[in-house]
Amino acid sequence: MEKLKLVNKYANKFVSEEEINAMAPRAVDAIRTLHSKNGEGNDFLGWTTLPTDYDKEEFARIKETAEFVKNNCDIFIVIGIGGSYLGARAVIEALKSQNYNLLAKDTPQIFFIGNTISPAMVNELVSLCEDKDICVNVISKSGTTTEPAIAFRIFRDLVYKKYSAEEAAKRIFCTTDKERGTLKNLADEQGYETFVVPDDVGGRFSVLTAVGLLPIAVAGIDIDELMAGAKFAQDSLNSEDLNENDCLKYAAIRNCFYDKGKRLECFISYEPCMTMFNEWLKQLYAESEGKDGKGLYPVSCVFSTDLHSVGQFIQESGSSLMFETCVKFGKPLSDLVIEEQEGNIDGLNFLAGKQMSYVNEKARQGTLLAHTEGGVGNLILEFDEISAANMGYLIYFFEKACAISGYILGINPFNQPGVESYKKNMFALLGKPGYESEKEKLEKELGI
Ligand code: PA5
Repeated sequence: MEKLKLVNKYANKFVSEEEINAMAPRAVDAIRTLHSKNGEGNDFLGWTTLPTDYDKEEFARIKETAEFVKNNCDIFIVIGIGGSYLGARAVIEALKSQNYNLLAKDTPQIFFIGNTISPAMVNELVSLCEDKDICVNVISKSGTTTEPAIAFRIFRDLVYKKYSAEEAAKRIFCTTDKERGTLKNLADEQGYETFVVPDDVGGRFSVLTAVGLLPIAVAGIDIDELMAGAKFAQDSLNSEDLNENDCLKYAAIRNCFYDKGKRLECFISYEPCMTMFNEWLKQLYAESEGKDGKGLYPVSCVFSTDLHSVGQFIQESGSSLMFETCVKFGKPLSDLVIEEQEGNIDGLNFLAGKQMSYVNEKARQGTLLAHTEGGVGNLILEFDEISAANMGYLIYFFEKACAISGYILGINPFNQPGVESYKKNMFALLGKPGYESEKEKLEKELGI
């Protein structure tokens, strides 16, 4: 297996080796805090050992369930929001394509729902399920999140409309707390199969639990390989020496950028299949680090697509604001050769015989130099290919870097108190019992 390689020479103009060395003691303190499990949020460190210390019985059951789902449905509906869906969708799209649902042959289509409150999305999926066999996996650690709860009510009903009660119960799978919560109670009462989100693993760190593994396995991805890659990262990223540990060094450099006034980290990919991985990264870093008025705001781009939208801004106005972190793969999921064309009407014969990935790589190199020239520092994380093992490694790498970064920043990377504010207001405005006193005040503010 190959390690991810951090290339920081295109950031050196902006963050020198001396500055990185000056950050090293804070980074070392942070990784020690993480390893010794005595920092803030230390009751949420289960993810650190997940690649080795997981429930083997449940892992086998995930594979069996995935086989059942593959053999018994056309559409697999995955209900969840935030950390309860992003990781699975990221891995499936990275390894299979953004067009997975159009290309899937031996595996079911997979639709993610319950990640918005859009009625149109629900109606659309209900109509897609017409005359189709379906299975449902509802994922909610708390078991009480409004968005997935509404979607589950609707799709649970749909399963019961399509099948007998006995058959319906076999087609519904709940991934939630091992003993508490509305969802767990409902599952036990109705006899649905359940999978566990471990107590000590927060939502955005849960992709390597049943939360991510069941949908990923249903897509036909080798979850043993995914876990093996994560294990390799778990074993490889422990050194306290920045020159031996790229995860630690990456965490240190991004904090150097932060200390020098940068406020955005832009995650870059040159493969659209990584779009959802970028979304997963954005949640991981924003929800972990954005606290106490601190933190780098994570944004993302897929190039060259976004060079034709936000490229202008990055080139000429990005320098005071941001740096870029590019996840680069040596080869794409597939490639093609550009053929010579008689007459050369489009003037592209100078590319004849070249692989399209070669052109993409030249775009990457050109952009790297242009953006660096424009004052935007670039970090590159290099891998040879997009594989399940490498995705497992990447997940663990970014989770660990995020935890270390959070400790360098001096915040608790494992809570998300800010997420509650909108929920409180929404419940009050909806008239949820217990929120009566707030309702009137908020309605007055809104003038309704
Ligand atoms: O990372 C987190 O904890 C959150 O993004 C949660 O995953 C998200 O809010 C969904 O929560 P739950 O799984 O409890 O429905």
